[in-house]
Amino acid sequence: MSDVPAPPGAARAGAGSLKEGGTVAPVREILWGSAAGAHKYETAEELAPDMAKLVVKLMVVQADTEFASIQQHRPWLDRAPTLEDRWIESRIIADESRHGLQACRILRDFGETGQRYIDELLAKREGQHKLDAFNMPFNTWADVGAFTCFVDRVGVYQLRAFQECSYGPLARAMPLMLSEEQLHLNFGQSVLRRMVQDGPKYAGSKAEAQSAVNKWYPRALDMFGHSNSETSRRAIEYGLKRWTNEEARARYISEVTGLMASVGLDLPAPEFDRHVL
Ligand SMILES: [Fe+2]
Ligand SMILES: [Fe+2]
Repeated sequence: MSDVPAPPGAARAGAGSLKEGGTVAPVREILWGSAAGAHKYETAEELAPDMAKLVVKLMVVQADTEFASIQQHRPWLDRAPTLEDRWIESRIIADESRHGLQACRILRDFGETGQRYIDELLAKREGQHKLDAFNMPFNTWADVGAFTCFVDRVGVYQLRAFQECSYGPLARAMPLMLSEEQLHLNFGQSVLRRMVQDGPKYAGSKAEAQSAVNKWYPRALDMFGHSNSETSRRAIEYGLKRWTNEEARARYISEVTGLMASVGLDLPAPEFDRHVL
């Protein structure tokens, strides 16, 4: 992720001073969008109705992906090939359930509407989720590797887009979620690498890893949303997101291109098997 620039104002936030033992002053002002320079919004009541609706919509999608991935990972808790892999599976499930809780806490601040969405989210079963990537079961261990490598990585881009955003409660949820997601990505990449290098001695084969890449990469690219999305334009204007869908997708493609070359797997063309363009 080193090619992703730091959020605007990161230098002011004093990222470096932590290493030197100093304290970090939180960024209190809105850093981009039409209200740049004003104080961040700290409560749901302060948000204009359209912005409030957008925060709710973004949190519902976020929470839905977290809860869905728990359902996808669950069968592998006691089927992962090694003891370490099983432990990491259990950690991923714990992390995703904490992320779902965090998104729901933000929803709770929106009163009855928020609570209604939480109830709906908790009732959703496999196959009923918003995004295709979260309605597909993990049939093989390679699916687990490719999902965490590709789909969780999109999740990281989405979370980074919220970093230091204009809604304080959301901005403050990001650092811990991002650090936990990093484990998921590294794990996914290491599963694919081990399948390529060690084949059946570890689990599956290079061919299985390649077919999982072909299966999950298009669904991961779809997750960024439509290129000319009105929602993403409004999210930037409100200071909630830093990038348009297309900007984030382009950065992602360039990151995973280098990554797959280093693992020894081919990446399909970005247009391959896409549903959302
Ligand atoms: Fe997560
Ligand atoms: Fe994750």
